[in-house]
Amino acid sequence: MIEALEFYRALGVDRVPVTLGPDSLRGISIAPETSVNAARQTEPETMPCCSVTVEVDPIAEAGTIRRSPEDKAKLLAELRDDIGDCRRCKLSEQRTNIVFGYGNPDAGLMFIGEAPGEDEDIQGIPFVGKAGMLLTRMIEKMELSRESVYIANVIKCRPPGNREPEEDELDTCRRFIERQIDIIGPQVIMTLGRIALQSLMRIRGIKITQARGKFLEYRGIPVMPTFHPAYLLRNPADKWKTWSDAQKALEKLNAIKT
Ligand code: URA
Ligand code: URA
Repeated sequence: MIEALEFYRALGVDRVPVTLGPDSLRGISIAPETSVNAARQTEPETMPCCSVTVEVDPIAEAGTIRRSPEDKAKLLAELRDDIGDCRRCKLSEQRTNIVFGYGNPDAGLMFIGEAPGEDEDIQGIPFVGKAGMLLTRMIEKMELSRESVYIANVIKCRPPGNREPEEDELDTCRRFIERQIDIIGPQVIMTLGRIALQSLMRIRGIKITQARGKFLEYRGIPVMPTFHPAYLLRNPADKWKTWSDAQKALEKLNAIKT
């Protein structure tokens, strides 16, 4: 633990969330100079044989710790392993493949859609069908590529007949997109369609026509909501609105980078 704290301090992190309980005050003691601020608040001289348990909250951690691209790739692979042959909700009964995500584990820009369709279910890759081709064209028009961004959905298994995901399914699967965001730590997120926005932001009854084009924030990360590409295939006259939203996301991304 001391090593871990010194590692964080070397990275410039000067505080970590601390959980202290009676049961955690046992074992080795920590000299004040080896601990970061949070641990230093304990007084070794009055608690001669005490230790502190420092739990680094993986969520709080995301904002402060810089991970290498290799670490992110490893953590994503571990998350995929954790999902395993998921049976956590009823969507598992009819799916062919779990569609985890695609792209750069170190992406600055992340696209979050709703759920796999038929093509995605067969291939196990997000946004490879007709809607996916439109998304891919937009990404390329942004002078990015599917390999430089990260693409995932709030639901990892295809809902039968492409029906809307139900609340219990969204609630069960949300932890995985949240963890993907934590690991990747994107600078900007674009949500595609109403369901992705509602699920990520834990809000209901939103009108995508009103919400799109205005930045929201998810754990400090700017979120640009826009239309779903499948909607744009049915309503091509609205494509320029999503392109305008994409421009705003790009501007934000470049402003953060430079
Ligand atoms: N629609 C989505 O929301 N996600 C996909 O991966 C494909 C289509
Ligand atoms: N409804 C949705 O779910 N998404 C859109 O993009 C538009 C309408």
